Amino acid sequence: MTHTTNANLLTDNPALYEARFPDPERLAGRWTEDCLRRYGAPGPRVLDLGCGTGRDAAYLHRAGRTVTGADLSDAMLAYARDRHPGPAFVRADLHGFDLGERSFDAAVCLDSALLYCHTNDQLDGFLASCRRSLVPGGLLVAEMRNGAFFLGRTELLDAPSVNRFTWQGTVYRSTTTLSVDRAAQLLRRRRVWASDDGSPPVEQRSAWRLLLPQELRHVLATHGFEVLALHDGPGPRTEPPWKEGDLPGATADADRLHLVARLTTAPRP
Ligand SMILES: C[S@@+](CC[C@H](N)C(=O)[O-])C[C@H]1O[C@@H](n2cnc3c(N)ncnc32)[C@H](O)[C@@H]1O
Repeated sequence: MTHTTNANLLTDNPALYEARFPDPERLAGRWTEDCLRRYGAPGPRVLDLGCGTGRDAAYLHRAGRTVTGADLSDAMLAYARDRHPGPAFVRADLHGFDLGERSFDAAVCLDSALLYCHTNDQLDGFLASCRRSLVPGGLLVAEMRNGAFFLGRTELLDAPSVNRFTWQGTVYRSTTTLSVDRAAQLLRRRRVWASDDGSPPVEQRSAWRLLLPQELRHVLATHGFEVLALHDGPGPRTEPPWKEGDLPGATADADRLHLVARLTTAPRP
């Protein structure tokens, strides 16, 4: 019998998350640091929102940044603190947080963490919180799925995708089915986990906001951000992946979206 849960097996098991989504070359951290330099973050203080296992925060720390990682998952925060002593790791909700006014020179939000803002209120809460946290001229760097990719394309929706990997001697098999909820503008995910250790299969459901590039530009402008770059790659999760020296792309058509925006106005009093 399949057990259905709202919990997330991967965020509850950070080591399993890293086994499923390895980044041994620290590509996401390197790409982020390249953006911070290329677009001139006004200082070294970086807030990594939805920091997960802390590996990107740790990379940025090693690159000389003063980093705070924020996440809602206690398991992720415990794992990050244990593995990566450099950055500070704090519990905060993307939908609305207060980590001090003008406390950061850049906010980063990687691997679609921003798309956990499902509603417009949550997106407004996220951007208002970033605005409060950043100094004027501070950067917002994000990397996520591209909602526009799903306009007229069904290749990721037509059939479930199956992935197998081995972790600590157990073979895990995940079967992922994606569907579009048009009215809510959500990409809904149903994932069934099975393993060869005798545990019953577990079904998990989650969703990402389907944000369109022009919609993102509009909401960023509303919150005082100027878009410096918004493109579909190369980036850390594109094929081929970004490498040092690659320039930002000029299109926003493929399945990943990369954003760099600058806070132009002073935070609201
Ligand atoms: C796909 S993981 C990305 C982790 C990391 N940024 C990376 O690129 O490896 C998304 C992360 O966002 C966190 N998250 C989801 N909803 C959140 C929320 N409302 N507030 C803060 N973190 C959240 C999850 O706990 C998870 O660690």
